[in-house]
Amino acid sequence: MALVHEIDYGTPAQTSATEVTLTIDGHEITVPEGTSIMRASMEAGIKVPKLCATDSIEAYGSCRLCLVEVKGRAGTPASCTTPVMAGMVVSTQTERLKQLRRGVMELYISDHPLDCLTCAANGDCELQDMAGEVGLREVRYGFAGENHMGQEKDESNPYFTFDPSKCIVCSRCVRACEEVQGTFALTIQGRGFESKVSPGMNEAFLDSECVSCGACVQACPTATLSEKSIIDIGQPEHSVVTTCAYCGVGCSFKAEMRGNELVRMVPYKDGKANHGHSCVKGRFAWGYATHKERILKPMIREKITDPWREVSWDEAIGRVASEFKRIQQTYGKSAIGGITSSRCTNEETYLVQQLIRAGFGNNNVDTCARVCHSPTGYGLKTTYGTSAGTQDFDSVEHADVIMVIGANPTDGHPVFASRMKKRLREGAKLIVIDPRRTDLVRSPHIEAAYHLPLRPGTNVAVLTSIAHVIVTEGLVDEAFVRERCELDAFADWAAFVASDKYSPEAVEEISGVSARLIREAARLYATGGNGAIYYGLGVTEHSQGSTGVMAIANLAMATGNLGRPGVGVNPLRGQNNVQGACDMGSFPHELPGYRHVSDDHTRAMFGALWGVTLDAEPGLRIPNMFDAAVDGTFKGMYIQGEDIVQSDPDTHHVTRGMAAMECVVVQDLFLNETANYAHVFLPGSTFLEKNGTFTNAERRINRVRKVMPSRSGLEDWEITIRIANAMGYPMSYNHPGEIMDEIARMTPSFTGVSYAKLDEVGSVQWPCNDKSPEGMPVMHVDGFARGKGHFVITEFVPTDEKVGPRFPLLLTTGRILSQYNVGAQTRRTENSVFMAEDLLEIHPHDAEERGVRDGDRVKLISRAGATSLRAQISERVAPGVVYTTFHFPETQANVITTDYSDWATNCPEYKVTAVQVALSNGPTEWQEEYQEHSDLSRRIAAHAAE
Ligand code: SF4
Ligand code: SF4
Ligand code: SF4
Ligand code: FES
Repeated sequence: MALVHEIDYGTPAQTSATEVTLTIDGHEITVPEGTSIMRASMEAGIKVPKLCATDSIEAYGSCRLCLVEVKGRAGTPASCTTPVMAGMVVSTQTERLKQLRRGVMELYISDHPLDCLTCAANGDCELQDMAGEVGLREVRYGFAGENHMGQEKDESNPYFTFDPSKCIVCSRCVRACEEVQGTFALTIQGRGFESKVSPGMNEAFLDSECVSCGACVQACPTATLSEKSIIDIGQPEHSVVTTCAYCGVGCSFKAEMRGNELVRMVPYKDGKANHGHSCVKGRFAWGYATHKERILKPMIREKITDPWREVSWDEAIGRVASEFKRIQQTYGKSAIGGITSSRCTNEETYLVQQLIRAGFGNNNVDTCARVCHSPTGYGLKTTYGTSAGTQDFDSVEHADVIMVIGANPTDGHPVFASRMKKRLREGAKLIVIDPRRTDLVRSPHIEAAYHLPLRPGTNVAVLTSIAHVIVTEGLVDEAFVRERCELDAFADWAAFVASDKYSPEAVEEISGVSARLIREAARLYATGGNGAIYYGLGVTEHSQGSTGVMAIANLAMATGNLGRPGVGVNPLRGQNNVQGACDMGSFPHELPGYRHVSDDHTRAMFGALWGVTLDAEPGLRIPNMFDAAVDGTFKGMYIQGEDIVQSDPDTHHVTRGMAAMECVVVQDLFLNETANYAHVFLPGSTFLEKNGTFTNAERRINRVRKVMPSRSGLEDWEITIRIANAMGYPMSYNHPGEIMDEIARMTPSFTGVSYAKLDEVGSVQWPCNDKSPEGMPVMHVDGFARGKGHFVITEFVPTDEKVGPRFPLLLTTGRILSQYNVGAQTRRTENSVFMAEDLLEIHPHDAEERGVRDGDRVKLISRAGATSLRAQISERVAPGVVYTTFHFPETQANVITTDYSDWATNCPEYKVTAVQVALSNGPTEWQEEYQEHSDLSRRIAAHAAE
């Protein structure tokens, strides 16, 4: 294996259909119109020296190193800023050009420290390369005059340094921050010799607007902006292309290695989800993989209050098998079940559901999608026929109106947010429907046309009211509806939404959003060109989550915004493989490929393959498993890569259920909160330690490639196989590729997927089969997967969770950029520098009423429980609404959330909890008890196994 080096073409690719032919250094070259001479040369393999150009950003033309001669033209134009023209004759290597380039380089080098041999970028520095390329042999100007050397380094960012003494002021970093990331954190201050790069107004990186995405580090041609890991470990010597294991964007990275040590993660330009961009998590927050708290040996214990005892793999797996078998003999075969992980690979998830269905003999399998996007599956399947988003991410580049509902992409899906922001800067209009004023509403060079700050829990009313405006104002795309949708259902729906009950004026009363805003937003979405909807957990995690998804689906059908680039209904899925976990049959009622367990044909097919008779009855969902555990009928659980104690709602109920079980098996990286209730701990592997695939939010199947050996000795899929065999259900696969081959054989939308195919084309979006061998970027192009699109009546039913005198505020929850969900990984990285605790955002008005000042510790109380945390006074939330994250176990925000859930899928209502806030002087009783239990439960008997 060698280092993967991607070619830098100098300027971005052009997409014009018109082609232009020119001659460069005697070679005839044809490229799309608008291409720069530099790119045309590079594409033909003719290298032009350059410093200020790189192909992720527009050309700037400042360094004058890329000069060329064009026949018939005076002077020496910069090839990066000069577009090709038909018949042009270009020379890139003449004596005159060589002289000029040497002169330019001489000036740069005369103001640059000549410490190449000890510089961290030695061997990976474009300045060094260019000096060699132009044949610079001597520098006539000494260092005696005024120069920039000796300037102080900025080491404030935990992941990269800024050494201005090495800066050549090419402004690649500034432009990357603006054009690629869209944060505008950097500027060039001063003029001429005085000009210098500065975060904000002469701030340190850490204090500036910088969100540590790394785009500037990536763009910097010198060692000025360098990863600290490169300085600490040295230059990498080989790399492996793999996929980020954090969010549903599914960014591709080159894991650059020295031996088995990861040196840095570099976003991969050919990655079809990210096109070479990244966020702070994927780029930098991988240190958890080698964190000292990782558990690397299997452990068992009799009671959850005993210390853990390290044992061999055989003993641990033997214990799991004997306990699960004992429980089934004593309490019946349905007394055990399991939870698959949206963090693990498709192959691992497939095996866990197989183990449960075929090995346990029941359908008691569920996944964390239950608590996030199960309403998406239900809603989109009902309306369109497929449980997934309709577009690829590239589609946003063709959107004219972007409607973001209940999602905060700049924090939750940052790389996609950067692309969305780029499109918005190009002129697309934005509608944000969210109780909170998220960053998107107003950020540098972006302002939402409309922000509808609705009361939490009123999505369905607002969305139906938007439909009311579309129908009553004659904005329906009648041709689309006539051709593509069920007409009876449409007529019923149109009559339903047109009723006065859903007029903007009536809905203003319910939602708090002015009728004017609802009307204008509806008109813009319906008439503004390509309308694309992106939504998140702010839609699904409600008692009407599925209804909300169907209300969105109705809007897109009514306006004809489906079946082409730039439109569609796009769930922004949270976790790296939540789409895949659903596809792989993680739900109690569905076999892989979303086929119901009651379907005799599918069941017979899987039964024949696995050599068992499968149960035709759906199994227990996660909340029902806890209910059954509390009732004493459910006694054992296998949990792979999921911290349900921290992530599931109503923690008191969850922990009661957990504590009531006789054998809880947790397979994870760390002793997480769920492990506090476990009897067997099986050490899992990180994404760096295994092979497999993840499926992102756009249905894209990406390869995960092993870059280092599993630190615990077994990869997660191997552990599941061992459990199955120990329980007497034979399972045998030698490599995850074989598991994927079986998935492809058994699942119609995956028949064309194989590791060989993925290695060849990079990634594919399912369905990938005979009909669409290269996958399907945009769905429902000629017709819906279910045939005709189905409009659904979306009656607004207010949640039972109501504010009142005792609980007058509404709590809604979300996440922030630097931490990830339960935080088990990101809390064990330097990302904690950016955020070290959950905070409660409260409006100044509500804070003042309660005597709360910024930073005060407050008690947050709901009908379900109480916790305490510090307050942050903020106008991002409206009066009457408070907001917090759930990244830190010390806070346990889910002690507060209730067990109300979506009527169709049981997805919990995380986004609406009636609460009270009061000043507090310390942790609540629950927090203290929990901490005590945690401390007790995490003890490991010293080296018991040795
Ligand atoms: S790390 Fe990203 S946000 Fe920060 S300055 Fe660089 S490009 Fe801008
Ligand atoms: S920090 Fe790097 S990218 Fe930015 S201006 Fe200086 S040399 Fe160029
Ligand atoms: S956007 Fe998501 S997938 Fe991409 S680097 Fe960040 S966390 Fe990873
Ligand atoms: S690379 Fe063209 S002017 Fe710098």
